[in-house]
Amino acid sequence: MPDILIAPSILAADFARFGDEVRAVDQAGADWIHIDVMDGHFVPNITFGPEVVRAVRRHTSKPLDVHLMIMPADPYLEAFAEAGADAISVHVEAGPHLHRSLQTIRKLGKRAGAAINPATPIEHLVNILDDVDEILVMTVNPGFGGQSFIQSQLPKIAQIRAMLAGRTVDIVIDGGVTPETAGACAAAGGNVLVAGSAVFGGGTGYADKIAAIRNAAE
Ligand code: DX5
Ligand code: ZN
Repeated sequence: MPDILIAPSILAADFARFGDEVRAVDQAGADWIHIDVMDGHFVPNITFGPEVVRAVRRHTSKPLDVHLMIMPADPYLEAFAEAGADAISVHVEAGPHLHRSLQTIRKLGKRAGAAINPATPIEHLVNILDDVDEILVMTVNPGFGGQSFIQSQLPKIAQIRAMLAGRTVDIVIDGGVTPETAGACAAAGGNVLVAGSAVFGGGTGYADKIAAIRNAAE
């Protein structure tokens, strides 16, 4: 199994102190920084555009994993790439031309990701396995941080890992990841764990929170 990577989601950070928050999780051991882009259309919430990605880029050299919950995504791929994303994920459900979106992201020189909602069957991924660098499995319904992990997604993660046998594709688990759920995510085959509220929520420092998730997963 690949090493476990922890990707704090800045959706749960203090938006008025983005620079400080990004630097803090960078220094606390974050492997990637996860940026949730929402459009109030594909999901019922609105967050950031490419200029926020550009601003975050100035505060860390860690990979920026941009999760697009927008529909359509294609008109914005170049802007997010140019703003400093390292990886861009588009939702399987967000348009009829997933393959084209993935192809465009790779042509822009970025890692291409396909994100899949809890209710979407894994068959939607079968024909794009050669075209992705990461598959992002939603373990909550997209749109908000702080929701409870949907346990029924665990067998789905394992099925996707089996489907990827022989390929070095990251499986990113997104939603409800905590020290309590991280072990099961990793056991099922997830190797990148996104965590918003479990890192930025109250309590002890970010280094301890990140370490707790990592320790539970390894
Ligand atoms: C939800 C986002 C997640 C969110 C996770 O739509 O894709 O990345 O930030 O937040 P937590 O870890 O609080 O469930
Ligand atoms: Zn996300």
